[in-house]
Amino acid sequence: MCALLWVSLTSAIWTHLPNSPLGRKKIEAAYRVKTLEEMPGPTVAKFVWDIFAKRGLSRLHELQIEGVKRYGPMWKASFGPILTVHVAEPALIEQVLRQEGKTPIRSDLSSWKDYRKQRGHGYGLLTAEGEEWQAVRTLLGKHMLHPKAVEAYDTTLNAVVDDLIAKLRRSRHQNPCGLVPNISSEFYLFGLEGISSVLFESKIGCLDPVVPTETECFIQSINTMFVMTLLTMAMPAWLHKLFPMPWDTFCQCWDYIFQFAKGHIDQRLKEEAEKVARGEEVEGRYLTYFLTRTGLPMKTVYSNVTEMLLAGVDTISSTMSWSLYELSRHPEVQASLREEVLAVMGGRRVPGAVDVARMPLMKAVVKEVLRLYPVVAANARVIADKDIQVGGYLLPKNTLITLCHFATSRNAAFFPNPGTFQPHRWLNRYKGHHPYASVPFGVGKRSCIGRRIAELEVYLALARILMQFDVKPDPEGSGAAVKPMTRTLLVPESEINLQFIER
Ligand code: HEM
Repeated sequence: MCALLWVSLTSAIWTHLPNSPLGRKKIEAAYRVKTLEEMPGPTVAKFVWDIFAKRGLSRLHELQIEGVKRYGPMWKASFGPILTVHVAEPALIEQVLRQEGKTPIRSDLSSWKDYRKQRGHGYGLLTAEGEEWQAVRTLLGKHMLHPKAVEAYDTTLNAVVDDLIAKLRRSRHQNPCGLVPNISSEFYLFGLEGISSVLFESKIGCLDPVVPTETECFIQSINTMFVMTLLTMAMPAWLHKLFPMPWDTFCQCWDYIFQFAKGHIDQRLKEEAEKVARGEEVEGRYLTYFLTRTGLPMKTVYSNVTEMLLAGVDTISSTMSWSLYELSRHPEVQASLREEVLAVMGGRRVPGAVDVARMPLMKAVVKEVLRLYPVVAANARVIADKDIQVGGYLLPKNTLITLCHFATSRNAAFFPNPGTFQPHRWLNRYKGHHPYASVPFGVGKRSCIGRRIAELEVYLALARILMQFDVKPDPEGSGAAVKPMTRTLLVPESEINLQFIER
């Protein structure tokens, strides 16, 4: 019976479709690979209007969702002098990443590279390509990607969490009702102190009662540099001469960022040299120590440490801020998470890496936060060695492909009620989502090298905060939702003030 049906179906297809001109055309159209020229997308004028007149640079993440509605899962747009293809469906993002090759290229990050060339600096992991990138990635991977190697940072990170808790306490005492205003600024300092402790294994004083001026300047420089990144990339080079402000400011910020990192590296190396001179044993577990012992040129050490310092600030601050913001608005989730932490701790006060590994709801909360607010809302790839096919289009080699993670992770087709904070969706293994629908740390060879350190840092800090405080929305606040905005990375648009009540 089945065989009969199969024969009659196939013969119907073969006898009718190819012989009718309409059917043949349909088949040909379905199998023909389309060109970039055929891809939909806004005109240059419309894109410039969206970006500059409608404050689109800070709304780039929202433009992803508008793009999907208007053009479907793939569209092209010119970002200043750069033509980029947007890909906004998990299966298509997977197609891109599976063809990325041995040493993937993230994006041109043209202005970051231009600055380094101009000043004679080296490239770090964020900006390096090819064999140069591969060599450092392999070296650092040993200390940053292996679970056991990362677990060993928990004592160092816990010392930073101690300082964070003390700082939150000071802040809540200085304000009425235990309010901690603008929590993101507290977490910038925490992020910087955290990554510094991993890189230098010594305090740099970010969480002290008086924040060193140079630290404030460093954070300010990062903020401004991120604002100027998109602007400098969107402006063609000849415009830099006509309107020099964005490029000049961008360079000044980078100068400060490099100078800050170099100052700390040199200081640490000097301390070590003095120890050696006194005949004391030098035993370092920190990343700068490993890097300096690999024989890499100092220029490469400086650029890598600088880029890692940078990578550890906004990412941690944003994730911590949104986590507490959402937990304060969902007291039932906060209570369950606290219960989980207390059950694992069984009366002990300071969780370690082994403890947080036994907290599934904690991991689900952070996953859900990064789904709603992916710090890298749009990532990118350039496939330099070959043309590739994605979603039925032929993308010529060297096309900049923008991976629209914000759009996929807020798409109801992959996450029901996508705008709501529902950490439990990650605990129900039967309601699987597409593995590329929410990939906040990226996927594959070029994915975030700091992922394990970042997760450990966030889990340790959240666990301790919840053990010590009930976190509530600002009692004087309007209750209006805080929106995310793009500042190269995705950050809260306005200040988040939260009430910390001692438990
Ligand atoms: C919640 C925190 C963080 C998030 C969400 C995050 C996310 C990302 C993403 C999406 C990428 C690009 C991956 C790709 O292109 O496939 C990346 C790259 C990178 N991240 Fe993170 N990151 C975080 C924290 C950190 C921290 C703390 C560090 C520092 C230790 C760090 C260092 C880096 C570096 C060096 C790269 C470039 C890796 C390479 O190109 O080989 N990140 N991160």
